[in-house]
Amino acid sequence: VKGGFDSFMDKEIHDQPQAVADTLLGRTDELGRLKLDELRIDETILRSIDKIIVVACGTAAYAGFVAKYAIEHWCRIPVEVELAHEFRYRDPVVNEKTLVVAVSQSGETMDTIMAVRHAREQGSKVLAVVNTYGSTIARESDAVLYTHAGPEVAVASTKAFIAQITATYLLGLYLAQLRGNKYIDEVADYLAELGRIPARIEEVLSRQDEVREVARAMRDTTSVLFLGRHVGYPVALEGALKLKELAYIHAEGFAAGELKHGPIALVEEGQPVFVVVPTPRRPTLHAKVISNIQEVRARGARTLVIAEDGDDAVEPYADVVFRYPATPTLMTPLVSVVPLQIFASELARAKGYDVDQPRNLAKSVTVE
Ligand code: M6R
Repeated sequence: VKGGFDSFMDKEIHDQPQAVADTLLGRTDELGRLKLDELRIDETILRSIDKIIVVACGTAAYAGFVAKYAIEHWCRIPVEVELAHEFRYRDPVVNEKTLVVAVSQSGETMDTIMAVRHAREQGSKVLAVVNTYGSTIARESDAVLYTHAGPEVAVASTKAFIAQITATYLLGLYLAQLRGNKYIDEVADYLAELGRIPARIEEVLSRQDEVREVARAMRDTTSVLFLGRHVGYPVALEGALKLKELAYIHAEGFAAGELKHGPIALVEEGQPVFVVVPTPRRPTLHAKVISNIQEVRARGARTLVIAEDGDDAVEPYADVVFRYPATPTLMTPLVSVVPLQIFASELARAKGYDVDQPRNLAKSVTVE
C-alpha cells in the first residue's frame, strides 16, 4: 500500500504531481474556459458577493492563506482567512453577500463543521473544498469543489495541501472569469501555468536526496525558524507546522518583514533559519527577502534557503540552498513547500519517530 515508500507520508509527497493534475482534470471546456459545474451556487449570487471568508484549520488554513493572495489579485474581492474555531466563537460579519469557503481534507473536522453551520445560519453561501466524497462538510455545504488528491493516510497533510491550493486557485480564476475581472486568455494563461506544476514538483522530488542528507545531519536540532514573504509566508508557516508535528522540534514561521518587530531577537549563533525566496523575476519582493537573509545571517543564523534555479543572489548568504524550477510568484507555494515536507519527514525518521502517526495527533479531529 505504501507503493515501495518507507511511509505513507513519503508516498503522498510523491503523489503530489498527480494530485495537481487530477484536481485540474475535466474542469475546462474546449475553448479553455473554466467550467466548474459542481459550483451549484446561482451565478447572480457569485457575481454579487463582496467578501470571501475561508474557514479551515491547520494545513488547510494555510492553503486558504495562500489562496487569499491569488484570489484578491485576480478577483479584487477581499478575502479573509480565519481559523474555523475562532470564526465560530466570535461574532463574524457575514451575510448573504459573503461567500464562506470551508477547506478540509477529511470533511469531518468538527471545528470546520461548526463554522459551516454558523455561516449558513447567518445567510451566507458555503462552498466546501474537500477531499473526501460525501463527508459531513460536503453534505452540509451549498456546493462542493472536490480536491482530487486521493485518500491521504499520513496524519501530516501534504498532497491535500497542494490539491487545496490548486482547487482554490481554480475557484479564484472561475470567479474572475465570471465577474469579468480577467479576460478568457488571461485565465487560460494561469491555467496553463497550473498545468506545468506537476512537472515542476517532479523536478523538486528528483532532488530530494540533498534535502534528506541535510535533514539527517540536523537530527539534534532543537529549534528551527521559517521565514517567508507574500505567498512564501504561509509556506513558512506550513514548514514550521510539519516540523512540529513530525519531529517534535520547536519551530516557528514568521512573515520575513516582521523580523525586526521582535522575532530577530531569537536569532543567535547557529540558529537554523529556513527562508523561502520568491522568484528574482519579482525584483522588489525578491530584494526584500534577500535583505532578510542578510539580517539573520549577520546575527549568526545558519541559513537554509529555498530559491529558484539560477537565483545567484542568495549564494553569498546561504549556508544551504534547495532549488525549485522557475515558477511565477503566485504558483511558487506548490513547489517551494515540497523540500520543507521532505525535510520534516526525513528529520522525524532520523530521530526514530513514526512519520505517519505522530504522537498526540489524529488524522481527523472530530471533536471541538
Ligand atoms: O481534515 P482537515 O483538512 O479539516 O484537517 C485540518 C487539520 O487538522 C490538518 O490539516 C492538520 O493540521 C494536519 N495534521 C497538518 O499536517
